[in-house]
Amino acid sequence: MDPGAGEEFTEWSVAGTAVRIRPIVPDDAARLATGLARLSPEARFARFHYAKGAFSAGELRRLTWSDGVLQYALVADLPREPGAPLVAVARWVRDAPEADTAEVAYVTGDGWQRRGLGRALIRRLAAQARCAGIARFRAEVIVGNTAAVKLLESVGAPEQETDLGSGVAELVYRLEPAAE
Ligand SMILES: CC(C)(COP(=O)(O)OP(=O)(O)OC[C@H]1O[C@@H](n2cnc3c(N)ncnc32)[C@H](O)[C@@H]1OP(=O)(O)O)[C@@H](O)C(=O)NCCC(=O)NCCS
Repeated sequence: MDPGAGEEFTEWSVAGTAVRIRPIVPDDAARLATGLARLSPEARFARFHYAKGAFSAGELRRLTWSDGVLQYALVADLPREPGAPLVAVARWVRDAPEADTAEVAYVTGDGWQRRGLGRALIRRLAAQARCAGIARFRAEVIVGNTAAVKLLESVGAPEQETDLGSGVAELVYRLEPAAE
């Protein structure tokens, strides 16, 4: 497990490179745009379920806004690299203002996958979500996306699965108390 797994802000070394986890801020708009541009077609499809092109200005505003109540996002960046590029992003968006379910989505840059970043982000995301009164994470996942399911399993227990068609399933997981 990465050090400080319960904390929003953490910095540690992944394969000799400093990686930092922190909440997203509006100033991340350009980094987010660059991160999407660098994403492989496969990862884009797994994240968005279509060949997502560049973010619009409105999308960048919405995706970098995080109040911790209606929506919340964490990023992993490389603080020692020029421009501190993003290497992973995870977010939840509450279904409705009073809802206790939130849609969760996450992506790790291709060269950074399978190094524990996804798990590190979703654990923090879930800890913050529980504090904000979220009881369930809902995710739309391409059927067979083992890594996406493993992340959900690391923070909750499966409650419901709905076939949305076109090879996409909606998975609902009840958040469990953090096993620290
Ligand atoms: C899903 C995703 C975010 C996981 O990120 P990650 O940083 O690689 O995750 P981790 O390194 O923490 O790995 C989490 C678990 O998934 C497993 N995993 C990661 N990539 C995998 C792959 N391609 N195939 C099978 N298992 C995989 C890891 O082995 C680990 O499981 P383990 O602890 O049992 O070994 C990443 O694969 C990704 O960005 N995919 C494209 C976008 C996407 O699918 N988003 C989900 C829909 S919103």
